[in-house]
Amino acid sequence: MEKLEQLKEEAMQAIENAQSLSELQQQRVHYLGKKGPIQDVMKMMKDLSAEERPAFGAQVNEIKKAVSDAIEAKRGELEVKEMNLRLEKEKIDITLEGYKPVIGNIHPLTLVQQELEDLFIGQGYTVAEGPEVELDFYNFERANIPQGHPARDMQDTFYIDHERLLRTHTTAIQTRQLELHAPHPIKVICPGKVYRRDDDDATHSHQFTQMEGLVVAEGIQLSDLKGTLEFMAKKMFGESRVIRFRPSYFQFTEPSVEVDVSCHVCNGKGCPVCKGTGWIEILGAGMVHPNVLEMAGYDSTKMSGFAFGVGVERVAMLKYGIDDIRHFYTNDVRFLKMFKRFD
Ligand code: DAH
Repeated sequence: MEKLEQLKEEAMQAIENAQSLSELQQQRVHYLGKKGPIQDVMKMMKDLSAEERPAFGAQVNEIKKAVSDAIEAKRGELEVKEMNLRLEKEKIDITLEGYKPVIGNIHPLTLVQQELEDLFIGQGYTVAEGPEVELDFYNFERANIPQGHPARDMQDTFYIDHERLLRTHTTAIQTRQLELHAPHPIKVICPGKVYRRDDDDATHSHQFTQMEGLVVAEGIQLSDLKGTLEFMAKKMFGESRVIRFRPSYFQFTEPSVEVDVSCHVCNGKGCPVCKGTGWIEILGAGMVHPNVLEMAGYDSTKMSGFAFGVGVERVAMLKYGIDDIRHFYTNDVRFLKMFKRFD
């Protein structure tokens, strides 16, 4: 009996001293397990007399229960303690500023292209695209520039092979669209990347962006072109802008014109941006050449059309006062961020 008391004392002490749940579990296995000291004491039962056994048995059971209760009580205590420790360790300082995800912004060229698209869509145009690796056929032949024609020299070209090239202008989309829609009326804008074998400098790039405009129907006249381009100039550069036509030459238009906008910086008085002239050249245009219409399948005695090709970089540079075309492609985020519209 004395030994039992001693054992109980010892177990209670060990349980009380347990510092963690895992230590407590070890004590549990030790004291209540099959090979533990309490179990050993049980084995002594067989040496006792029949009268002594019940009291002894009751005592052992009492110890077992006491130890088990003590372990449960301690477990509760340790669980709270360990939870508090964990909470303390994993505490988050919600007053600290978090990391702000970086949100990019639309590229200035995309911005200008979308602006142009929007204003033409508002006039009933649809947007058409075409391949950048293009057939010589659509880029030149169908634009009334046959093999060996000197007009090909105006556009230094990246050839892939005899038949294919990187399109030099969005007029290639125009000739495809004409073929697709002939003999019916058509009203499209055709934006896209174009390529020229140019040496890159502040105003030249081997790759840039154009947008072609094309309207074919019965009775389309040069005055329709003028009204359309004046509308575009006012939307892009301000309501007080006016435009002028100068005679020009393109193989795919007749007559052909070069289009100037009155300078938006000096309002036409003359300044460095317009080189003192009051006018800024923005695009080439004209009445679609009868050959181009006929080749695509139109009856040029019944149908006529106008077309224009505008450089998107050029419009963006004028609109935002950008002095070097290379800014669009060198991806300096300080430049790109200037076109952020909101944070
Ligand atoms: N394709 C011409 C170029 O890249 C631009 C152009 C001029 C397009 C007159 C046209 C046009 O549609 O009618 O220089």
